[in-house]
Amino acid sequence: MTESLAAKYGPWGVVAGGSDGVGAAFAHRMAAEGMNVVLVARRLPVLEESADEIRARYGVEVRAVALDLSSPTALEELEQATAGLEVGLFVYNAGSDDRSVPFLDKDLDVHLGLVRRNCTAVLEAAYRFGAPMVARKRGAVVLVTSGAAWAGGATLAAYGATKAFDLILAESLWAEWQGSGVDVLGLVLGRTDTPSLRRTQEVQGGSYGGDLADPDDVAAEALDHLCDGPTWICGSPTPTGGSPFGALSRRDAVLAMSRGATAHRE
Ligand SMILES: NC(=O)c1ccc[n+]([C@@H]2O[C@H](COP(=O)([O-])OP(=O)(O)OC[C@H]3O[C@@H](n4cnc5c(N)ncnc54)[C@H](OP(=O)(O)O)[C@@H]3O)[C@@H](O)[C@H]2O)c1
Repeated sequence: MTESLAAKYGPWGVVAGGSDGVGAAFAHRMAAEGMNVVLVARRLPVLEESADEIRARYGVEVRAVALDLSSPTALEELEQATAGLEVGLFVYNAGSDDRSVPFLDKDLDVHLGLVRRNCTAVLEAAYRFGAPMVARKRGAVVLVTSGAAWAGGATLAAYGATKAFDLILAESLWAEWQGSGVDVLGLVLGRTDTPSLRRTQEVQGGSYGGDLADPDDVAAEALDHLCDGPTWICGSPTPTGGSPFGALSRRDAVLAMSRGATAHRE
């Protein structure tokens, strides 16, 4: 029998963005393997419903922490809310863009909030929660990123740039922490059927089309490959491979990404 997540990494897991979609799927699978979980999200009712369901199903302890991860104090507050817990697995999942529009059609504050949630808070999470893991010589960190990280593209400026930050951060920490007992995985997702994606489709009045990944399959695949970093491309026939645009010039990659990002509106 393979070792459970709790036995391998420690008794508690944190999922930043853990109340629905991919984050909730991670939390369920972690709890099913005996981990107590801390769920972080903004909407308290959704968060509490998810927490109650996990407690009832798996009999583990669940803490629901209502926080906006784009607030400058969010990670300090999360560290306080988890003080005294041995956090062995940290999944930073929150990160989607709720409206994909040209750069100048969004308020500057919206872009800055996205950068705080997707870059500053991710870096802080890795620092604040990674340090005790390295000191204990066991743990795992998953940073969820996106195919939007592979190249720039129209309507993806801030989102794609933040996701590239997450990818490079994960890969760099993997390289530094190799052999330390702490696994790091940059998890690249393609389009996945989450409440967030469905809301975005509704707002934008179109459907992205094509097959959407199932959040539960995504979480299962990621947790099965925590040791296979630095990068895992979910659902890919070559999940440890490089960018699918690798053979193209940067110009052609950016044009292809732009066509993909705007196709649903044509
Ligand atoms: N879905 C896709 O097609 C897709 C494709 C590629 C990559 N990804 C990546 O996969 C990850 C998950 O995406 P997703 O579609 O499930 O949507 P998401 O909106 O990134 O994640 C949903 C979860 O994050 C929480 N959340 C969002 N913003 C937050 C904030 N500012 N503070 C605290 N919690 C926050 C949500 O709860 P609240 O709203 O209540 O806060 C919910 O629990 C993201 O990193 C995204 O970039 C998704």
